[in-house]
Amino acid sequence: MKPDTELLYFLNNEERTKEAYRKMVTETVQAILDSLSDDKAYAGQSPQGLQDIIGRPTLLPERGLGFPKVLEEVRRTILPNFLRTSSTDYLAHLHSPALLESICSELILSTFNQSMDSWDQGPIATEIELQVTKELCKLYGYPEGSDGIFTSGGSQSNLSALMLARDWFCTTLLNHDVKKLGLPPSYAKLRLYTSEVSHFSMEKSAHLLGLGYDAVRKVPVDKLCRMDSRALESLILSDKEAGLIPFCVVATLGTTDYGSIDSVDELGAITRRHNLWLHADAAYGSGVKLSDQYAHRLGPIEVCDSITVDFHKMFLLPISCGAFLVKDGKSLEAFSLHADYLNREEDEEDGYSNLVGKSMQTTRRFDALKVWMAFLTRGKDGYSNIIDTCIGNAAYLYERVSENPVFEVAIRPEISSVVFRLRKSDGTNKKVRRLLLHTHGVVIGQTVYANRTFLKFTLLNPLLDHEKLDELLLLIEQLGKEAEKE
Ligand SMILES: Cc1ncc(COP(=O)(O)O)c(C=O)c1O
Repeated sequence: MKPDTELLYFLNNEERTKEAYRKMVTETVQAILDSLSDDKAYAGQSPQGLQDIIGRPTLLPERGLGFPKVLEEVRRTILPNFLRTSSTDYLAHLHSPALLESICSELILSTFNQSMDSWDQGPIATEIELQVTKELCKLYGYPEGSDGIFTSGGSQSNLSALMLARDWFCTTLLNHDVKKLGLPPSYAKLRLYTSEVSHFSMEKSAHLLGLGYDAVRKVPVDKLCRMDSRALESLILSDKEAGLIPFCVVATLGTTDYGSIDSVDELGAITRRHNLWLHADAAYGSGVKLSDQYAHRLGPIEVCDSITVDFHKMFLLPISCGAFLVKDGKSLEAFSLHADYLNREEDEEDGYSNLVGKSMQTTRRFDALKVWMAFLTRGKDGYSNIIDTCIGNAAYLYERVSENPVFEVAIRPEISSVVFRLRKSDGTNKKVRRLLLHTHGVVIGQTVYANRTFLKFTLLNPLLDHEKLDELLLLIEQLGKEAEKE
């Protein structure tokens, strides 16, 4: 069958394809702009309401509807129900709005659809990613010989770290090549250590790596939710006495709920004494490095063997965008494997980098462009302003809730999350969060601290100010009263 002449396939050098591209993108942009008719974070439906409006007999009609009709449907049913991450009423998760220039990066990288596996699938993209990872290694204080790779985000970076740690330990200390032989006979004794408030990608990774959840030792935290270093060392010692095999410690630099920062200084001393890999999960805290005022809070992150950096959190870049950095670039060889059709060994010898050899993924997005464009657009001072504002807002909010007797606060924030509750029942706190969402379009977080339900503000949006935070606290106080009456 002949293709629909109205609906062209691709953008190329022909004028009519350029015109079609311009028209489709312009109309899409207009639909997006039209959907932003108020400043609420969520003006959409309940789960049932959404299922009702998107319901249709099939998503694959016998004859295509054509782009204008589909865009019209997107305009009518999907766009009005989007969560608006750029609203100052969105404070729920470590999920940021996207900087304007990064939306342009997304358009460019989707238009040209480069892939990062081999140089011939993304020549300039490969060179840019190499340049950006080099810059990142410098930013986090890594020496010559360090290296990195872009990932889909924190979970993949953490999985990569634990895989490298496991392989390094098994090769150098157990004299066993996991890459070739699989897990060593003593695999069930391998243990990794991380705080009890670390991210659940630790357990997921342990499962994926064949070690299982039991391999993850959860170390108690101090009053500020930082890993208790003494408890860590005594756990390592008692595990060793029991015949277990510690291989890795993961420091969290910015825990998901509290933004608390483990001391890499203290943990580094312990991992050196016991010959263990030290990984920094800085998915949240990595952005703090760009702050003039607060970068020191991360401590000497460069002592860590590997670092998780996430750009779709504090750096305000669109999902997905993460990086995994290693102090010794050679350790990324754990991912290397040659395929005749893709990454021939002679390519490297001739100066063509095929990044698939450093990555868990094969086909991979050119996310490095977003970092390249945002770093150059904003500069260090632009980013520092963003991060300083967010951390300053959290300090302000903490003071406000601490001095108001209707609230109880969990811990003093080190980054930009504040966990607090109304001094009312757990049920009332839960109800307040739902009322905020469905009757006020305000989306906040909820978690559990000391076995009680707490509310959470994650302050990633630099447009939030003290006045807005005061308004939100007042609203929560009022809703707390209403919820109790019901
Ligand atoms: C501390 C920490 N590590 C890892 C992750 C996982 O990151 P991602 O969602 O990018 O996979 C998160 C996500 O919130 C996190 O807070």
